Amino acid sequence: MCCSAPTEEALRLAQLDLNQVFLNLPINAAHAIRDVVKDIGSKGKIRVATRADGDWVEISVTDSGAGIPEAVRSKIFDPFRTTKEVGKGTGQGLALARAVVVDKHGGTLTYETEMGKGTAFRIRLPLATAQVAEMAPIR
Ligand SMILES: Nc1ncnc2c1ncn2[C@@H]1O[C@H](COP(=O)(O)OP(=O)(O)O)[C@@H](O)[C@H]1O
Ligand SMILES: [Mg+2]
Repeated sequence: MCCSAPTEEALRLAQLDLNQVFLNLPINAAHAIRDVVKDIGSKGKIRVATRADGDWVEISVTDSGAGIPEAVRSKIFDPFRTTKEVGKGTGQGLALARAVVVDKHGGTLTYETEMGKGTAFRIRLPLATAQVAEMAPIR
């Protein structure tokens, strides 16, 4: 079936699952920063940016945290992979993010990281998906 108007329920679901993604990335950023600042008492930075790029919308979350260790990098999108202590991490955030952004909405989810400097996650979504998420009523 092609091109029928999305039902209100479909709009609501699109918004709900994308919101979970938008929430998880800054939480991961905050955890990574805590690992860095706990000893020195200074504050870190999380920068959330959005921009339009033709038919795409880009959302990036950049942190000044510890970076992602090389040994972990190939596994961060696997379900239940966490480097955090019990009770703090479930390892489901990035697996869900990839399922929602890439598999469900045809977007991309990438990152750049540097140990001791920080990490930037970048979500790219087709504009149509992003507009659907924005239109949906919140209940
Ligand atoms: N911004 C980040 N900086 C450093 N490491 C990260 C960051 N985001 C994710 N990670 C790594 O990826 C792993 C998986 O993340 P996620 O799927 O959200 O699970 P969780 O946060 O529950 O551990 C984390 O345990 C952590 O090792
Ligand atoms: Mg997480």
